[in-house]
Amino acid sequence: MITLEQLPIVAIPSMNDTHLEETLIINRLETVAKDNNTEAVPEILKELLEHTAAHFLDEEDMMEEVSFPTFKTHKSEHDRHLHELKSVIKYFEEHKDTRAISAYVEGNLTPWTLHHADTMDRMLALFLEEGATTACSATKGCRTGDC
Ligand SMILES: [Fe+2]
Repeated sequence: MITLEQLPIVAIPSMNDTHLEETLIINRLETVAKDNNTEAVPEILKELLEHTAAHFLDEEDMMEEVSFPTFKTHKSEHDRHLHELKSVIKYFEEHKDTRAISAYVEGNLTPWTLHHADTMDRMLALFLEEGATTACSATKGCRTGDC
């Protein structure tokens, strides 16, 4: 379960709103998976996929608008995550295994979501807010020095 205290706060309020919405969906998914609710799990997985796809598209639009230097890296991470989520949904459709969903949420989805928001999204928000120079020097996610 993701708590509000765990959720990284980035420099763009609309991004925080989106992250909070997604967190609430993830927490609901974890609850119904633990309850072995095989009817609610696919509904929430669908809701999560739609929300995540729209969320990533919004971020990618923002990145393109400002020619964000690490757009490709950030987008490929979005694509990889969406592909994985679709694979998990397909697996659930075939096996109706709520324990696999619990394991995915706890072992992968939750840590990935928190880490992504704390690194790539934090860097994007700083870039949008303050410009490239500040973002590059202030963000722990940027270690290459080429952004
Ligand atoms: Fe992102």
